[in-house]
Amino acid sequence: MPAAVSVVARSYPDRIIGVENRLPWHLGTDLKHFKELTQGHVIIMGRKTFESLGRPLPNRVNIVLSRDKVEDRPNVVWANNPETALLLADFHSICKANKQFFVIGGENIYNLFQDVINKIFVTEVNSGPINGDAKFDFDFPNSEWYYKYEREFPKSDKDDFSFRISYIVRRKGEHRRRMINEFRERNKLFEGNWDQFAVEAAISSQEKEIEQKQLSFLESL
Ligand SMILES: NC(=O)c1ccc[n+]([C@@H]2O[C@H](COP(=O)([O-])OP(=O)(O)OC[C@H]3O[C@@H](n4cnc5c(N)ncnc54)[C@H](OP(=O)(O)O)[C@@H]3O)[C@@H](O)[C@H]2O)c1
Repeated sequence: MPAAVSVVARSYPDRIIGVENRLPWHLGTDLKHFKELTQGHVIIMGRKTFESLGRPLPNRVNIVLSRDKVEDRPNVVWANNPETALLLADFHSICKANKQFFVIGGENIYNLFQDVINKIFVTEVNSGPINGDAKFDFDFPNSEWYYKYEREFPKSDKDDFSFRISYIVRRKGEHRRRMINEFRERNKLFEGNWDQFAVEAAISSQEKEIEQKQLSFLESL
């Protein structure tokens, strides 16, 4: 199945990710990285994060988790529970021949999906202590995770604070499996897309290539 990857920016040392439903900083370079990673892919987010963005992110399938129906709009897909969000993310990723999709927050949604995440891009922002009401409160113990890549970025005209981006990988990845019947049972969700699904599902894995491309981009920033 496509890999679920988290992307998050949190303050150091308090692990704050948001205040009053917005980001506590502007980091142009980090946003550029976020855009490069997620463009053309499926992203899963909570309703509050969706509202804070103010619009669906272009050129991405925006899966929005909410218990109340989210209005249909181009590139927006509503999921009313985490399992449906994952099924939709798998399906749309397969249709797009993508090997990854991204969990982009906020706090509630990172917590819901942390167990199925094998890879994560964490931006640690050197903001010092700040007030906030949303956190990304996870540790990555060496016994379970390893830091595959890290890069420091200075404070600049584009970036309010200096920061570090780390790419962290779970040592023993969770393998998610789905039976084709899971898709079929819910095929009303997917309507006329079955032919495309059958073709795209056959495409072989290119995960190593994707990772190399992602890290090269980080290197070039
Ligand atoms: N720094 C970063 O990298 C980053 C990234 C993203 C977001 N953020 C920040 O994080 C904050 C938002 O985080 P948050 O935790 O308050 O909100 P959130 O995770 O964005 O959204 C929470 C909403 O998701 C829905 N939800 C949660 N669990 C669900 C479930 N089991 N089934 C169905 N729907 C479910 C609910 O929507 P309903 O109430 O509609 O049912 C809930 O209110 C903001 O400040 C934002 O700026 C920071």
